[in-house]
Amino acid sequence: MIILASSSRAWWRRIASLAPAGSFFLHLDYREVHYAKVLLDAIFGRDSFMNEIIWAYDYGARATKKWPAKHDNILWYAKDPSRYTFRYDDIDRIPYMAPGLVTPGKAARGKTPTDTWWHTIVSPTGKEKTGYPTQKPLAILERIVRVHSNPGDHLLDFFAGSGTLGEAAVRNGRSAVLIDNNPEALAVMAARLAFAAPEFHGVTPGAKSSLRSESSDTYHRRSSGRAACPSPRGRFRPTPVDSSSRSRSAPSDRSSRRPT
Ligand SMILES: C[S@@+](CC[C@H](N)C(=O)[O-])C[C@H]1O[C@@H](n2cnc3c(N)ncnc32)[C@H](O)[C@@H]1O
Repeated sequence: MIILASSSRAWWRRIASLAPAGSFFLHLDYREVHYAKVLLDAIFGRDSFMNEIIWAYDYGARATKKWPAKHDNILWYAKDPSRYTFRYDDIDRIPYMAPGLVTPGKAARGKTPTDTWWHTIVSPTGKEKTGYPTQKPLAILERIVRVHSNPGDHLLDFFAGSGTLGEAAVRNGRSAVLIDNNPEALAVMAARLAFAAPEFHGVTPGAKSSLRSESSDTYHRRSSGRAACPSPRGRFRPTPVDSSSRSRSAPSDRSSRRPT
């Protein structure tokens, strides 16, 4: 089941009741992540900090006066660091960089990824593209969903954007509540997740209402100009999405360029 909503107020009990074996993920960029880590350490406790996952990509213009910033940061906190969901056997495998140095069996099986995940951004011309400017790759969210939750679990994304988490959830037998206060995000999610017959709470699909609050406008102005979360305003071009034909690929560590 997928639920789309415009405000987190109605869902605060669920937000407060992260399951005992549940996890929290926060995806930011290098400019903000350290501030957020200090705050999250205070909320969850430092022992609950499990990993900082680096999502590395290699796309777009390259700075010439400093090292080009080509990664985002994903912080993982477990509610209970002694008891959390981590489905090791469901981790997708990636190729060895030097397959000749391991046995043929190992080379064929591949290895598990580290905390650095190589995956290109959503292709501006590919099937996955919804037109929402901050859309994240489905494969990144699918890896998180498959490893950190169990089939049947309920997931929550209160900054859902184009609904990538929702698609990853429903394609892997989980349900999700997806919240965004941007009407354009809700329109994209409604189209993208139509195959899952979503329920709507506090929002009429297609209605261009004044959903966005003043505070979120401020947020969008402040965060414009970068891939992590630029303002979608003025640049929104919905793209028809054929969800049924989309592959369920893992992060394409295989195809992305990596350091040699
Ligand atoms: C980086 S985008 C999320 C992208 C998403 N992961 C995807 O794959 O499309 C962050 C989203 O948070 C939403 N947002 C920002 N402030 C919000 C608020 N106060 N309440 C609800 N949504 C908010 C924005 O409208 C934006 O769509």
